Amino acid sequence: MCRVANLSLILIAGIAATISISASAQTPPAAFGACRACHNVQKDGKSGIGPNLNGVAGRPAASLPGFNYSAALKASKLRWDDQSLDAFLAAPMKKVPGTRMPIGTPDPAKRAAIITYLKSLK
Ligand code: HEC
Repeated sequence: MCRVANLSLILIAGIAATISISASAQTPPAAFGACRACHNVQKDGKSGIGPNLNGVAGRPAASLPGFNYSAALKASKLRWDDQSLDAFLAAPMKKVPGTRMPIGTPDPAKRAAIITYLKSLK
């Protein structure tokens, strides 16, 4: 009995290890946890309170079809690259006064991790 239980434990551990290895390319940094409440990241997935962020790096701000963006973000004429993402994520309402994105990420290291992650979402 005991050996059977041990074997299945090893099997489960093995499966878990395989899953985490295959997902590692897009494992979100801890700092992205706060974003998930509002942002979906699945390709072609539905937007939530915020727009789906899959493919956000490189696209113009406020350009995801079907999402109801603020007039402020639509008028911002930003394109999401490393610099604009960094400034927006640091203090959204300072970079784009009137945006509906409510939270900033003051820690530069966390922003860098988030931006690297966003660029991996395709
Ligand atoms: C409470 C909900 C909420 C949270 C939490 C949130 N966002 Fe947002 N986010 C929004 C909304 C709403 C918008 C659209 C803003 C607008 O239209 O002005 C947005 C817009 C954005 C955009 C611009 C997208 C585009 O298509 O132009 C990026 C990038 C973004 N958020 C990243 C993040 C990241 C990274 C985090 C976590 C650090 C985060 N957001 C947390 C609600 C949220």
